[in-house]
Amino acid sequence: MLLPGGIANRGKVVRVGDTVRRPQRDTSPAAHALLRHLEKVGFDGAPRFLGVDSQGREVLSYIPGTPVLPPYPDWALTEEALDSVATLLRSYHQAVAHFDPTPHTWPPSPPRSMVGPLVSHNDLNLDNIVFRDGRAVALIDFDLASPGSRLWDVACAARLWVPLRPDAYITDARRGHAVQRLRLFVGSYGLDRDERSRVLTAVQQNQQWFFELVEWHIAAGHRAFMKYKKAETRIPPAKYAHWLSENQEIARATLGS
Ligand SMILES: Nc1ncnc2c1ncn2[C@@H]1O[C@H](COP(=O)(O)OP(=O)(O)O)[C@@H](O)[C@H]1O
Ligand SMILES: [Mg+2]
Repeated sequence: MLLPGGIANRGKVVRVGDTVRRPQRDTSPAAHALLRHLEKVGFDGAPRFLGVDSQGREVLSYIPGTPVLPPYPDWALTEEALDSVATLLRSYHQAVAHFDPTPHTWPPSPPRSMVGPLVSHNDLNLDNIVFRDGRAVALIDFDLASPGSRLWDVACAARLWVPLRPDAYITDARRGHAVQRLRLFVGSYGLDRDERSRVLTAVQQNQQWFFELVEWHIAAGHRAFMKYKKAETRIPPAKYAHWLSENQEIARATLGS
């Protein structure tokens, strides 16, 4: 059964019984080592890596539940849902803390100031988190995972889940609630003081990083990304950075005030 959701592997991710089959990339062995580590430490908020099938696809456990796909359902836009994403992300970072990434070849890293030994997920889009009963229970799609940082993941998740962008670019029930939702997200995750002072810089860099990643895919003629080319939600990084730097309320919310 074809699974709806992603962009990069659109039309190529299928469910077979209790498993999911996905195309591999050059860096898949690194992601598999990561999933094995998460299994070893008993983290159940990620699929299990079960091997490679006869067609060369990776075999993962199927996680029962539902990812958040457009049009976004009301239950995915609640504060409870947002709180559960922060909690899940925190527990992932605890589970991955003692994983050594050095023996593996990873996808392109985040900006240098965001890179450390911790392997961050790096792609916390709504369709990459599985929910059950209104709460986030698992991260999926570790294709972009690489040495990064908690801060980089928090910035990515806050940007997409709060979301952090001008209200004109928000069409669902989250519109008008950025400040309170950001405060909730940062607090639920439990960012420390130093990270709080850097989170908006991370958000700005994260927006630019993804903008450039999409540009790269468009230039490479990757069809599923073409629809982004004219998407009204695609904000030029300079415009986004300006909006962020002007927004004092958002800056205060990251500090918890
Ligand atoms: N392990 C899994 N358990 C349950 N559903 C999954 C799993 N892996 C993928 N899916 C489903 O397949 C969709 C696309 O998979 P994903 O791995 O995110 O592909 P892409 O690389 O295209 O983003 C997801 O949005 C989700 O609906
Ligand atoms: Mg995906």
